[in-house]
Amino acid sequence: MKSFRVALLANLKANAPHWAGMPEDQWDDLDSEKTIQALLDALKAGSHKCEFLEADSTIIDTVRIFKPDICFNICEGHFGDAREAQVPAILEKLQIPYTGSKILTLALALDKPMTKRVLAYHDLPTPDFQTFERVEEPLEPKMQFPLFVKPSREGTGMGVSAKSIVNNEEELREQVGFMIERYHQAALVETFIEGREVTVGMVGNLEGPVARRLPHDEDLPRIQSGLRFFPPMEVDLSPYLETDAVYANRLKVVLADQLNYLCPAPLDDDMVDELNWLAAAVFRVTGALDVARVDFRLNVHEDWKPYILEINPLPGLSPGISDIVIEAGAENVDHPTLVNMILESALRRYGMIE
Ligand SMILES: Nc1ncnc2c1ncn2[C@@H]1O[C@H](COP(=O)(O)OP(=O)(O)O)[C@@H](O)[C@H]1O
Ligand SMILES: [Mg+2]
Repeated sequence: MKSFRVALLANLKANAPHWAGMPEDQWDDLDSEKTIQALLDALKAGSHKCEFLEADSTIIDTVRIFKPDICFNICEGHFGDAREAQVPAILEKLQIPYTGSKILTLALALDKPMTKRVLAYHDLPTPDFQTFERVEEPLEPKMQFPLFVKPSREGTGMGVSAKSIVNNEEELREQVGFMIERYHQAALVETFIEGREVTVGMVGNLEGPVARRLPHDEDLPRIQSGLRFFPPMEVDLSPYLETDAVYANRLKVVLADQLNYLCPAPLDDDMVDELNWLAAAVFRVTGALDVARVDFRLNVHEDWKPYILEINPLPGLSPGISDIVIEAGAENVDHPTLVNMILESALRRYGMIE
């Protein structure tokens, strides 16, 4: 492997700004020193010259001083609706290559309702939804209880708790009000999908010039070559499902670190094919690049029909912890290998390697 100068661009949790009254989960999606070090070690193991640059506003200067051939971008950003797209915008202005999805995709994926509109346009299955800018907006008839309330533009389970599942108007209004007040953004209300929870990680890029839309003819071959899918991972809710599925979801959210994660998930080959195809379709229509993770719920009431919850174009890369790292591990792709696969996908895309 040719050696490159690689700047690792990230927002370290320890460097994030603080203020009085800040929600305690404000910076839950930022990275730890341990993760940064593991990524640096991985890139160095790939024989690259590598340095971590904090992605605050100093980045405009530091990146020009370091002069990277390419940046390994995992910046979540601090402020703004499209915060994950800010550093890529700077890099494009400076004409510096970077790994992963570009501005439009990063901004889109941060806005769940907007992403769902794109999915719905392509007839990709995603739970029915309605956004609430104000608490008192009337509930549309298609929205039947139980419903699930979450923020429109957060990640890492932020704003999701036992109270997210609402069973009546009163609980709905309370939760929608809480969401708007706490996160200063529209509340996203979805049909609650009772069932199993599965996520699919992938690395690479769709081959050839591929349009960011699906052909209308469903009989055409399903394009997914160029992407490497890792085995799906499941949050094991089965011990609880029989007693109370809603309770099971509460467990998922509240006791995340005590739950059992199954990887590969016990799914038959047809289901894995279907999930991979849907993940590839989401990757394609959102214009993702190099790496992504797509989250699903499988509906127990519809013969486990998969519903797409969201795409994460900047999936967490913490060794031993992050979903896609565990998924890669299930195929004996270790953390350094995974990180270098992402880098190589980008290098290939820019024509910097064969
Ligand atoms: N419509 C839904 N039905 C059931 N559970 C949901 C629904 N939407 C979200 N959840 C639960 O909330 C979690 C977080 O939601 P998600 O949309 O993936 O947001 P993020 O991961 O960005 O916080 C999911 O992993 C799932 O457990
Ligand atoms: Mg998610």
